[in-house]
Amino acid sequence: TMADHLRKFESLFTLTPQRMRMITEAFSETLELGLKKPGQVVPMIPTYVFGWPTGEEVGDFLALDLGGTNLRVCLVSLKGNGQFEITQTKYRLTEEQKQEDGENLFDFCAECLKTFILTNMDSIVEQGADEEGVKEDGATVAAATAQAAAGESEGGGALIKPGQELALGFTFSYPCAQERIDHGELIRWTKGFGAPNTEGRDVAEMFRKALSKHDLPIKLTALINDTTGTLIASHYVNPRTKIAVIFGTGCNAAYMEHVSEIDKIAHLGIDPKADMAINCEWGAFDSFEHEHLPRTPYDIIVDQTSNKPEEQAFEKLISGRYLGEILRLVICELIDEGVLFLGQNTYKLDEPYCFDTAFLSLMESDPTDELLMVIGIFTHFFALETTLAERQFFRALARLIGRRAARLSACGIAAIVQKMGYLDEGCSVGADGSLYNKYPGFADRVHEGLIDIFGEKGKNIVTHHAEDGSGVGSAIIAAMTKMRKDAGI
Ligand code: BG6
Ligand code: GLC
Repeated sequence: TMADHLRKFESLFTLTPQRMRMITEAFSETLELGLKKPGQVVPMIPTYVFGWPTGEEVGDFLALDLGGTNLRVCLVSLKGNGQFEITQTKYRLTEEQKQEDGENLFDFCAECLKTFILTNMDSIVEQGADEEGVKEDGATVAAATAQAAAGESEGGGALIKPGQELALGFTFSYPCAQERIDHGELIRWTKGFGAPNTEGRDVAEMFRKALSKHDLPIKLTALINDTTGTLIASHYVNPRTKIAVIFGTGCNAAYMEHVSEIDKIAHLGIDPKADMAINCEWGAFDSFEHEHLPRTPYDIIVDQTSNKPEEQAFEKLISGRYLGEILRLVICELIDEGVLFLGQNTYKLDEPYCFDTAFLSLMESDPTDELLMVIGIFTHFFALETTLAERQFFRALARLIGRRAARLSACGIAAIVQKMGYLDEGCSVGADGSLYNKYPGFADRVHEGLIDIFGEKGKNIVTHHAEDGSGVGSAIIAAMTKMRKDAGI
């Protein structure tokens, strides 16, 4: 019966508290190792973001965000005191663009940035008397700048004054080895990206080159990861934040570390009393060796059929890119065994990644006894009829997969908490990404997981929805960078 099958999957996908503590332990050691030695599987990347924002960061900054579901351009105006205003536009990135040559990808980013600036020119570039003409003629920003430079304007609220450049923070959410804040060599693509001629290259430089093809008064001043941005933006509005996590298409965390603990950069002579944000790139935990994480046969297929087999082992069990695919593989196996959809044509389910993680969210949140939402998903997207027992089974499977993802995430958070000694005083964890924001009960399950690992004290660690890391965070980091530069550091 369906119930017998379910029992099998329950034991495959359930993590006991004991197992979680073992994973946490191994995770902690991995984090330590990444700080000690360069080139580790979990790279623990120094970000050159020094310490927390003061809240006094002010000014106008551009932010470009490549890495989640969309490409986003934001104009952020920091007002101080944790206040800000933001204007933004999203541009859809096609699957093809993710596989095209890296140069094309950055050209597209630069073009979107240009479109954004042209659209929002009134508020960005200081305008002359005939500013409407400029806009309607669709003249270039260069022309508008030149016009501003000619001193025709009184300099009202516009952001770029003659001869000035607007600082841009580029949130590029892939692992990049950084030597400075405005540099970063792509270690490897993750999340299904595969653009050739990009791995091993300085993506900040590649983007600058793309930008230079347009005459835009913009300067890339900071290259950041979404987790680092989220860490800083969360702390800006909630100073109890000590850790940031992304649960989206990918999964990763950042936190603030003491420079004295980062042995692998001791030779740089950075003040050991300083603090620096670390981008863990924890999605890579347990890659290659597969010693610590409990992988099911379905996880192994997801891994082996991905464009990066063996890599991002932790992320592949957790992030939104993969959860739907795990469920699809279970369903396909049961179809082959003649258990599900008897007598129906199931070819639509054969397509890899056709079962979106959003379907798991929907199934879990279906409030009806008949599971009408589940009926809808299967009839509408896969032309399949379901029995109530099948629907209950699918929903139970979604729960198992979603719950495992949240509990594994708790292990990662616990490892940082343990390493930094945050358990007694407690801390806030800024969290963002589609899984965290949209998957029903995800945060509660992470919290339950933390209690399973730490006991009652686990309640001291609380996640909250973070402020827009790649927009606001990137702007704050650009502002912090500017303040350091102005201070001659
Ligand atoms: C957004 C954050 O909400 O989530 C970004 O502002 C982050 O910083 C993104 O990259 C990740 O989520 P997803 O679901 O788009 O991968
Ligand atoms: C992937 C990326 C990482 C990013 C995360 C969340 O794990 O490698 O850089 O932070 O996804 O977007």
